[in-house]
Formats: sequence, structure tokens, C-alpha cells
Amino acid sequence: MPKVIEEARILSHEAPIAGVDVLRLEAPQIARTSLPGQFVQISVPADGGFLRRPLGIAEVSRENGWIQLIYRCVGRGTEALATEKTGTCVSVLGPLGHGFNTALRHPLLVGGGMGLTPLLFFAAEHRNAAVLMGGRTKGELFWEAIYRPYARVVFLTTDDGSYGRKGFVTTLLPELLRDGDYDGVAVCGPPVMMERVAALATERGIPCEVSLERRMACGLGACLSCAVDTRSGRRKVCKDGPVFPAAEVYDVP
Ligand code: FES
Repeated sequence: MPKVIEEARILSHEAPIAGVDVLRLEAPQIARTSLPGQFVQISVPADGGFLRRPLGIAEVSRENGWIQLIYRCVGRGTEALATEKTGTCVSVLGPLGHGFNTALRHPLLVGGGMGLTPLLFFAAEHRNAAVLMGGRTKGELFWEAIYRPYARVVFLTTDDGSYGRKGFVTTLLPELLRDGDYDGVAVCGPPVMMERVAALATERGIPCEVSLERRMACGLGACLSCAVDTRSGRRKVCKDGPVFPAAEVYDVP
């Protein structure tokens, strides 16, 4: 798949909730070829130079030539990116990596925190996915309104019980897997959550894919900074992933 560098104009840059930014970029070539689960490396100013920061693609419009990224400001790179204003340009390399299998009749997407970013692209493309999302509190589930237009159904959990079922996604998941007719599970979120979701799906014989997050430098498979041990040997998250079959990376039954 062709990777390109585009000087992308910022079409909008908003912070719908504190600490979370939504960035829409005019990047028609990347929009045209991106697939759910892939990411871009975006160049941000840092220490008088520039560094590239990997961000999952949350949505695209192939027709209108834009991509949308949703990110949390958690460090130097994303804090610098958050200062970029509408109308300015940023350098974007992509699309990168290997995405989800979306050729499913009835997928269940399971996400927590910013792991809901790449799954949003999946939901928007598929239009018949069920979504299970979890957060610590109701405020973290601002994602619900973003997903509703695309998802067939949305299930919610909060750790404190302030919204949806009280507990974790793994509290509700066993009954969804028992009662639903899912032919695949895609999961992205904290590692402990992904491993547990993968185990529950695999126990029921449902194929599961996980999207891993690692520190990345080049994003192109050249520097080994993102290497991970899998059942088939050392693999690069940026190039061989970030999406892997769960059985490749977890000790699932
Ligand atoms: Fe360089 Fe993956 S980020 S090999």
C-alpha cells in the first residue's frame, strides 16, 4: 500500500473535552487509501526541531479528502500539536501499518480510553458493528455520541457505575458473547483489558484481533523501537501491526 507524506492543512482543531483534541486534516491521498486500524506519523515542533508522533486514524472522508485524528494530550509531542491552529499545515506520513479485518458480518468492537480511536474508523466503515466501550466515569464515555451514528448498538460500562453497567468491559462481555451472534471481536485499549477480552472471545471460539500500542520512532519498520515478541518471532508493531490476531501476541486458549 502506498505511503505518502502530505503537507496537510488543518481544517479544524477542537477540544470537545478537557485534554482530548479532535484534529481534521486535509490529506486527500492518505484519506483515499487508509483502512481502519492504520495510523499516521504527524510531525510536530519539539526542541527547535520536529519529531513525528504516531496517531491512529479515527475517521476519513475519501470524498472530501480529509482524515480525522482524536488524541489525548499526554506529553511533549501531543502538547505541541495541540497548539497548532486551523489553517496551518503539518506534515503527515501515512497510511501506516496493518489494520483490522473488517470483512465480518457481525463484529463486536471493544474499546477503552483512547483505544476507541481506531475502532471508530472500523465502526464508521462497517456500519453494522456492535460496540462495547468502557471508562472510569461517565465523562470518559463522550465517545458514545461520536459512535452512535455508525454503530448498530452501543453497550457501556463505567468503573464507578455512573453510566451504563457498573464494572469493566469484561464484566459485561461474557453475556454479550453468549447472547450475540458475533463472528469477530476487535479490541483496543489498556493491555490488561485487551488480554482479558481476547481470552473471553477465544474461549467462545470467536476470532479476535488486538491493536497494540508501542513507542515508535520511524513508523516504517526500520528502527526496531517498536519490536514485540509474538508466537511467530519478533515482529514490528509499526509494520506488521499495530493489529495482530490475539493468539499471536497473547497466551490465549
Ligand atoms: Fe521503527 Fe517500528 S517504529 S521499526
